[in-house]
Amino acid sequence: MNKKQIENLLSQMTLDEKIDQLLQLAAAFYSDTAEEKTGPMSELELTQEAINNAGTTLGVSGAKEAKRVQDQYLKNNRLNIPLILMADIIHGFRTIFPIPLALGCSFDPTVAEAVASISALEASVSGLHVTFSPMVDLVRDPRWGRVLESTGEDSFLNATLAAAFVKGYQGDDLKNDLTKIAACVKHFAAYGAPIGGRDYNTVNMSERELRQNYLPGYKAAIDAGAKLVMTSFNLIDGIPATANRWLLRDVLRNEFGFKGVVISDWGAVKETIPHGVSATEKEAARLALVSGVDIEMMTSCYNHSLEELIKEGIISEELVDESVLRILTLKNDLGLFENPYRGANEERESETILSVDHRKAARDIAKRSIVLLKNNNILPLQANDKVAIVGPGASSNDVLGAWSWQGKQEESVSLADGAKKCSKNVVIGKEKFDYFEPSEKAIEEAISLAHQSEKVVLALGEPEWMSGEAASRSDIRLPKAQIGLFKAIKSVNQNVIVTTYNGRPLDLSDVDEAEAIIVAWFPGTEAGNALADVLWGSFNPSARLSMSFPESVGQVPIYYNVNNTGRPYESAPNEKYVSKYLDCSNYAKYPFGFGLSYTSYDYNNMELSQNRMNKDETILVSITVQNVGKMAGEETVQLYLQDIVAEVARPVKELKAFKKVWLEPSESKKVTFEIDEKLLRYVHSDKTARSDDGQFKVMIGGNSRDLLEKVFDYRN
Ligand code: NOJ
Repeated sequence: MNKKQIENLLSQMTLDEKIDQLLQLAAAFYSDTAEEKTGPMSELELTQEAINNAGTTLGVSGAKEAKRVQDQYLKNNRLNIPLILMADIIHGFRTIFPIPLALGCSFDPTVAEAVASISALEASVSGLHVTFSPMVDLVRDPRWGRVLESTGEDSFLNATLAAAFVKGYQGDDLKNDLTKIAACVKHFAAYGAPIGGRDYNTVNMSERELRQNYLPGYKAAIDAGAKLVMTSFNLIDGIPATANRWLLRDVLRNEFGFKGVVISDWGAVKETIPHGVSATEKEAARLALVSGVDIEMMTSCYNHSLEELIKEGIISEELVDESVLRILTLKNDLGLFENPYRGANEERESETILSVDHRKAARDIAKRSIVLLKNNNILPLQANDKVAIVGPGASSNDVLGAWSWQGKQEESVSLADGAKKCSKNVVIGKEKFDYFEPSEKAIEEAISLAHQSEKVVLALGEPEWMSGEAASRSDIRLPKAQIGLFKAIKSVNQNVIVTTYNGRPLDLSDVDEAEAIIVAWFPGTEAGNALADVLWGSFNPSARLSMSFPESVGQVPIYYNVNNTGRPYESAPNEKYVSKYLDCSNYAKYPFGFGLSYTSYDYNNMELSQNRMNKDETILVSITVQNVGKMAGEETVQLYLQDIVAEVARPVKELKAFKKVWLEPSESKKVTFEIDEKLLRYVHSDKTARSDDGQFKVMIGGNSRDLLEKVFDYRN
């Protein structure tokens, strides 16, 4: 259909039909089994007609079911307007990839694109049209359970990966390429900054900070063509994002030029009542629609009140028309008017989903996301090393992570299974090992196996339910029983290698004395194979932390791009009146960008092509990176900048570029970056982004802490 035809269709719709298009309901509403039709259905108090005509749904999947639901929908729909099927496909559909925070550690947009592309392939064949991804909320507080859904603490890395996710989901021709699905960037905006890391809590930040660090990720996804934006649950300067006209109309639509569909998060329209900005459902509906929310997810304020609001002249019908037009346009962009089933294909479903190729990609990507934090020359393991694999993570299939809706634990590979393929000299405990309350028998067995072996892989961490939505923690240490286990094992065998499954950065001080530490995150379906590849060295780890690991929870929020303060710690660490703690350092235990490999890299000969730069010029910064170890590997060369004196105090460093280089043993390569005026911009007090004259520090290295530096002068 062309624009005119869509407008024509809109003109034939009754007000009721239009209002129904703005409603999104969960899969249970469409189920044909009576017992599932309970719960939210009754709470929403919707007429059967509204349910039949709700414009979009969430959580229906499977080619057969998708077709059934679409058929049933079209049968009821007077104008043959198809239904959109949406769902949360966050890090894989059935083939589960590492959690997004881990994907961030790959520092590799091709990884994000590949994950999104395979997710789209599996989801589309199962009949889905839209995913609620990418989630690009910038995160600085590991207490927040949803840090796992983000790609981390840095706005440049987030933005780079956000664009790659959108490209992977949507491709270049969404309408005709049936293997693609539309992307919905979320949660707009700043959902990743709840005070105290407590989910759904208030966000309080300046508009300048919002624009500087938090908005670029969403903007990058929108610029890459994301078709939808989801509002967040939180307040933005006292006004819920879902009722925030400034955010959704002035910034999103007018400034960013977003033309797609805005959808509320689950229940967020009605939640403006407990937030305290609307007294009734009717007021909530008015506020959200006027602010720019097109689709209301899983509450019925629009459905109950919009007609009345229009009749009373409080809002105009044109406002509803605008939203409906955007929804119809999305249906058209997905090609649903011509082909309401889109990619749903029962025959192709079984050969596509969890295919050998997808599993291969999942293993490869998991390896690239696993971070080696410490290694006292104990890793990689040798095939003839006698190794015990013990602890709660040893035989666990709880490796998928919180957003693995269609993923199945029984299809995943445990560390024990992966390890057995790498070495004949592994022994694995037979007793079931609980993460919190392991049995005496399980502990005894673990200690005895450790005692009899040369090296011990102690698999610790969090089970899946400890991170994700509504899973904030005030204590980010390992569970007590695991700390006790570490000490007991260490007392019988000094060669302890700790691995962790985790959805957030942890305080790992309790296992500081391990000889090696590997953070595996939730690696997904191929977890055990990928982790074993890293442990036995068939893969040389290359991942870098996308989020800092604190020394203790008291330092949280902790992030690398801090301001210097007026009393910097570095200037006089032993002075009392400097910005510091009495009982711990200011620094992350393992900072952003950090990660070891089985080789090491030297950085030398940092050079600038010139020491002065004018507005239209560029400076080339080069550095020689050499592999000085014995194993080939991939290094992530990171470039940071600091505007030394500016109108607004600028952070001591900010990531502006990175490049990955492959180096054989002894090989060295010159890596060159280009600095132009755009890289020097920042958000000024008047909220515009531009650059200032003056001195800039440019820093290059393999993590955000260990950097070589030079200074140059810039004149506009
Ligand atoms: C609530 C979550 O905040 C959001 O991320 C998700 O997409 C929706 N539920 C739909 O499941």
